Amino acid sequence: MAKPSHATWGGRFTTGPAELMLQFSESVSFDRRLAPFDIAGSKAHSAMLAHVGLISAKERDAIHAGLDAILADIAADKFAWDTKLEDVHMNIEQALTQRVPAAAKLHTARSRNDQVATDMRLWFKHACAVLGEKLLGAERALLAVAGANRDVLIPGYTHLQRAQPVLLAHHLFAWLEMLDRDQARFAEVAEHANWCPLGAGALAGTTLRIDREFTAKALGFVDARGRPQVTQNSMDAVADRDLFIEFAGACALFGVHLSRIAEDLILWSSAEFKFAELPDAFCTGSSLMPQKKNPDACELLRGKSARLQGNLHTLLTLTKGLPLTYNRDLQEDKPPVFDSFDQTAMCADVLAGMVAGMTFNRDRCAAAVRDPALLATDLADYLVLKGVPFREAHHAVGALVRLAEKNSMALDQLPTEEVQKVHPGFGLHWLEVFDLKRSLANRKGTGMPGTVPVTRQFRRWKKRLA
Ligand code: ARG
Repeated sequence: MAKPSHATWGGRFTTGPAELMLQFSESVSFDRRLAPFDIAGSKAHSAMLAHVGLISAKERDAIHAGLDAILADIAADKFAWDTKLEDVHMNIEQALTQRVPAAAKLHTARSRNDQVATDMRLWFKHACAVLGEKLLGAERALLAVAGANRDVLIPGYTHLQRAQPVLLAHHLFAWLEMLDRDQARFAEVAEHANWCPLGAGALAGTTLRIDREFTAKALGFVDARGRPQVTQNSMDAVADRDLFIEFAGACALFGVHLSRIAEDLILWSSAEFKFAELPDAFCTGSSLMPQKKNPDACELLRGKSARLQGNLHTLLTLTKGLPLTYNRDLQEDKPPVFDSFDQTAMCADVLAGMVAGMTFNRDRCAAAVRDPALLATDLADYLVLKGVPFREAHHAVGALVRLAEKNSMALDQLPTEEVQKVHPGFGLHWLEVFDLKRSLANRKGTGMPGTVPVTRQFRRWKKRLA
């Protein structure tokens, strides 16, 4: 059945792996996307081997030329990937061996364990940079739609009940705060990735005199002042998967934010609210009901967040209880992070595209925010300014609300004599409170939804997202 092993590790085997084992254990179907990083790592490693005299400059140059040619083939889709060769590392090494005799020296002082750890750290740095840009795109789209609806007011909600008036921009800026934290989280993950594990070997380094700092520098694992950063424990370096969890965690939390934003948009675009109109390009119709326009993009954003959380959970479970150091289980670490990356990237683009095309229904927003009950707290504040303790003021306004409800009238329709009977603190000008402009003008403090602080936030975001 099984033939003698020709695998790179085949020396001690009398037979090769079963066909089923090859299928079961291959990872090249998903880790081939690491090729550019794997080749960058191999070029830096061979440069270091030449630097310390373990290979000649000629051998290094031959290896570099061979790797460049392989990368070009991969980019042109002309590379023959072979699942029998297990993974991206073996595929590239074998292809190099066929081109360059010196390829046999490339794996000196290296193991696939520190190799894959290095590839992934390079990949995480790249992935975080890409997602940072995509998030920026979504944030810019949000700022633009806030700018186009600068003067629109809506009710802010707690418990999904109308609470107090806010500028629409203030609500949109709340989303910006969430996305901005996500961006910061990805930047942090990239920083944590910025340590070079090459030289850790399989788990115990090497007896050969290598220069880890040289490799780290060549691959850009350097601090702000250009000093190389290398991992400090060879066993941790090959066993550690914290970055995978941190990255998937950042994606999952972004997903939670997306799902909350999506939920607001779904509500706002419903006939019951009708505050917002989503662009046709990001909605779909019903196969049965001709009138339907469904907010599918929002629902998928909400749904994808489940998948992003699932990926995080997979990684936590995968690493929990594993003995040091490398175990083959760890090969399963890549599909979830790649999926989280792909989905997060697409979600950010969809959010940006959808937000860029959405419009607001000014009349509906104005009608909703006109409800005088939204200013009940302002009315309590009015009494406070007349020296009434807040608890007493709250109670008095509550009594007015009850009275208005009993008489089926709006709060600002109550006769002034009745109002003054409830509390003598209400003066003749109590109705002046029911002015949205006044209410918004009075919310002056930092972080509040008033005209002045929101104008300041417009300036801040414009500068930040420039
Ligand atoms: N494909 C492997 C992985 O992704 C590479 C490391 C293999 N190391 C080993 N000792 N078999 O985990």
